[in-house]
Amino acid sequence: MSTNTLLILPGDGIGPEVMAEVRKVINWFGENRGLKFDVSEDLVGGAAYDAHGVPLHDDTMARAQEVDAVLLGAVGGPKYDDLDFSVKPERGLLRLRKEMDLYSNLRPAQCFDALADFSSLKKDIVAGLDIMILRELTSGVYFGEPRGIFEEGNERVGINTQRYTESEIERAARSAFELAMRRGKKVCSMEKANVMESGILWREVTTRVAKDYPEVELSHMYADNGAMQLVRAPKQFDVIFTDNLFGDILSDCAAMLTGSLGMLPSASLGAPMANGRPKALYEPVHGSAPDITGQGKANPIACVLSFAMALRYSFDQGDEATRLEQAIEAVLAKGLRTGDLLGAEGGTPISTSEMGDAIVTALQESLE
Ligand code: IPM
Ligand code: MG
Repeated sequence: MSTNTLLILPGDGIGPEVMAEVRKVINWFGENRGLKFDVSEDLVGGAAYDAHGVPLHDDTMARAQEVDAVLLGAVGGPKYDDLDFSVKPERGLLRLRKEMDLYSNLRPAQCFDALADFSSLKKDIVAGLDIMILRELTSGVYFGEPRGIFEEGNERVGINTQRYTESEIERAARSAFELAMRRGKKVCSMEKANVMESGILWREVTTRVAKDYPEVELSHMYADNGAMQLVRAPKQFDVIFTDNLFGDILSDCAAMLTGSLGMLPSASLGAPMANGRPKALYEPVHGSAPDITGQGKANPIACVLSFAMALRYSFDQGDEATRLEQAIEAVLAKGLRTGDLLGAEGGTPISTSEMGDAIVTALQESLE
């Protein structure tokens, strides 16, 4: 039995609350499925700033580089809004992504049957929806130089640079095609090749990489049209492959199609380490939700599903990941809902910890 190392960074806001529920799930797999995890915990974001004056301590960064997987809750909150840009909570997360070189960000948008009524779109447009956005995560306008606010004549100018090398596009494109091979074998690449040179190169490189995956059908779309198509007819997509900034926006849009941001996990993967596992960080798509922090109202499902992604992509436990995902579907099918999952018709919400317990119960039932 091999040991799996996991670094938990609960972060800010509801991060610690949802992570406490993930801990229950991790323990269940240790006790019942022989999956032992060596878990350590540390600070990130505002919590790290409060303790160390930086949103990510160098020691934490070094630990993140050594473990099999990092599981992060959420960062940020109004308390930190006025901090200098360089120490804002978000910088801790961006540092992890950049220094671990987590270039492929997987953001599934899946519509759970029990929640299809929840979407702001008509039920038949979203029922059964299952798409995966592959967002390039370590380059593009988030990191390109030059950047900054500069004096120019008698005013200031704010500058950010969209920059992509061929190799950066290529490695992320390969992840997109590899994923598509294990799914519906379709990739739709989104850029703005009509107005941006980086988009022209993106399209060229992606088309070249596609030649190595003859079974996968590649299409291209301008990102603005992509946004429209996502809302018009989202089920036309399997894997959407896009850059850092478009991916940020399109993934929020796709998330909302499913009815609840509180349900969506994500994985950020880099190159394989010496043990063959990819560098990896898993986190829910939702933020720190300061408005409900500390009230036991948060939905832990996105964070638990992020652990399911860790089981699948870092620990080669696809069957156990599916077991966990099915346990969550079973909980929803029983009608159990945290407050964010109660529609207009209302009902009685269960608490964060009751949801965690219900997931563990459903896992136990999966063995019977
Ligand atoms: C996301 C978030 C981050 C991003 C922020 C918190 C830096 O919006 O993960 O989508 O812009 O990438
Ligand atoms: Mg975002």
